[in-house]
Amino acid sequence: MTEQSPALDNLLTESRTFPPSEAFSAQANATADFYAEADADREAFWAKQADRLHWDTKWSQVLDWTNAPVAKWFVGGKLNVAYNCVDRHVDGGHGDQVAIHWVGEPGDNRDITYAQLKDEVSKAANAFESLGLTAGDRVAIQMPMVPEAIFAMLACARIGVLHSVVFGGFSPTALRSRVDDQAARIVITTDGQYRRGKAAPMKVNVDEALEGAESVEKVIVVRRTGDEVPITEGRDLWWHELVDGQSAEHAPQAFDSEHPLFILYTSGTTGKPKGILHTSGGYLTQAAYTHHNVFDHKAGEDVYWCTADIGWITGHTYIVYGPLANRTTQVVYEGTPNTPHEGRHWEIVQQHKVSIYYTAPTLIRTFMKWGNEIPEKYDLSSLRVLGSVGEPINPEAWIWYRENVGANSAPIVDTWWQTETGGIMISPLPGVTATKPGSAQKALPGISAKVVDDQGVEVGKGGGGYLVLDKPWPGMLRGIWGDEERFRDTYWSRFRDQGYYFAGDGAKYDADGDVWLLGRVDDVMNVSGHRISTTEVESALVSHPTVAEAAVVGATDPTTGQGIVAFVILRGNAAATLKSGGDSAGQDAVQELRNHVAKEIGPIAKPRQILVVQELPKTRSGKIMRRLLRDVAENRQVGDVTTLADSSVMDLISTGLKTGK
Ligand code: WTA
Repeated sequence: MTEQSPALDNLLTESRTFPPSEAFSAQANATADFYAEADADREAFWAKQADRLHWDTKWSQVLDWTNAPVAKWFVGGKLNVAYNCVDRHVDGGHGDQVAIHWVGEPGDNRDITYAQLKDEVSKAANAFESLGLTAGDRVAIQMPMVPEAIFAMLACARIGVLHSVVFGGFSPTALRSRVDDQAARIVITTDGQYRRGKAAPMKVNVDEALEGAESVEKVIVVRRTGDEVPITEGRDLWWHELVDGQSAEHAPQAFDSEHPLFILYTSGTTGKPKGILHTSGGYLTQAAYTHHNVFDHKAGEDVYWCTADIGWITGHTYIVYGPLANRTTQVVYEGTPNTPHEGRHWEIVQQHKVSIYYTAPTLIRTFMKWGNEIPEKYDLSSLRVLGSVGEPINPEAWIWYRENVGANSAPIVDTWWQTETGGIMISPLPGVTATKPGSAQKALPGISAKVVDDQGVEVGKGGGGYLVLDKPWPGMLRGIWGDEERFRDTYWSRFRDQGYYFAGDGAKYDADGDVWLLGRVDDVMNVSGHRISTTEVESALVSHPTVAEAAVVGATDPTTGQGIVAFVILRGNAAATLKSGGDSAGQDAVQELRNHVAKEIGPIAKPRQILVVQELPKTRSGKIMRRLLRDVAENRQVGDVTTLADSSVMDLISTGLKTGK
């Protein structure tokens, strides 16, 4: 268990609740009896949810758990995921409905109807097939938030090819390891991307990543910024030249419900990211069910906006698959929230009359910092449901969100889930739940979660421990790409006897039995809602020639949730130069290391602070005691040091920091 900070204690005594208004409840998609219905017969409940989709062949069995922990959902069923997200709505007479209001960062716009989406996806599918891609192949996508990224994902799904989207901010090294791990045949990217008002390169990074990458046959480049890029003859193709001339007719083939849909890499407790594998029927069912009920989405009426990037699971499930399966009209925004000004999001909400807005606590805290007067300038009266995801939301931020964005009335849904769970697992239901600032509250109908102690025994009200998922669910991961053993070890070995999935999060029940998430209990940090492992950053640091040893901790940060703090021991020569060079040499060395981490992993992993130390606190068995380093990083009295091999080490670190030595 992680130690609880005083802030968390306050948080857990939160007693305010906000019951839904009668008017909201009267029109809500979800009703209170969903819980009882799902409890009475979980499989029948999920079968009913699967009926939201179009199945070419109906399944014969809802769940096959005989090969646990690898589940099969909707066994024998066949469907095409892209058909469900696109063509079906056109066939149903909604071709003219806008699917995507795309807003470019520099101010360009593009509205894409479902009919147009169908054409674009079909053309891309034909193009991919013309390159010889067939079902089961892998395509890596590193792109900013442009419509072609969504077309590419759906075109892959349409032909049974697995996509693997790599966040645009990841370094060439990070992209390369992901491309190699899955042996991707094709990589799709853009010439560049707009970031904070400027065009930044993208293709050159991809080129650097792919030098000598054996599996990659073609690189498809979407023109976005118009900047000139080097083209490798025979390998690189422009999207517009390849795709635009293709036929807009493409017959979708039905795939097995368990056909793989995508791989998405996420940080684990070791340096090597895990390729989380999701499949088709169960994943899409949970995506559509949760999007419909948690956001109370009404097709053809609501305008929905999820601010995530498609490089993360939230972008997969709540920009692409869930919303499009539910015939959503949504905003997709390319850029940063303060470009060209800090009211950009609210301006977009006002312009498009956004009614459902889903974002992350780190951004809410940033909005708070920018000031109430910014949202006040805009008409936000269209907003009727607000969502939060990525990390625990502190009650102050929750209340600010409610008052300044939700006009004191829009229900807030704090949604707990993971890349591995595929879709939302724990969340209030708008119109049903009396919400509580800071708590994700209850597992959704059809989902089962428990807080258990070390032994796997459920704790009582007021008790804390580990969050587990004790029953299989449709959107669950089916494995880690190419590493079944790691899949079993990471998620299923901690509570093997009980057969529980271990989520890696600490949690607690309050007096009402509501669940409060307390953050990761493993060596995974959560920085602005992004998962980064301490080991990954440590490996990046020790790969620098001046570093002998490194220990990394996540320290509480008022804006980003956690900030990365690194303690490094320099090699002999570097340490000596540093001593003779004084303060400025120290700053240069630290800056160089920060940049090195950004280069190895990506700017999101840049340590907030790097402290050069002489020693690291270790137990007698040589394990670094991160708990003590966290005390230093958070400016606390250093805790119990009795298990240290050398108890004077902490004094050395603390005095060293004070005197700058
Ligand atoms: C954390 C993002 C508290 C948690 C969808 C989880 C949360 C990790 C919440 C997954 C929440 C996500 N309250 N903590 N509402 N949502 N987390 O895979 O630690 O990027 O294990 O998926 O984020 O991060 P991932």
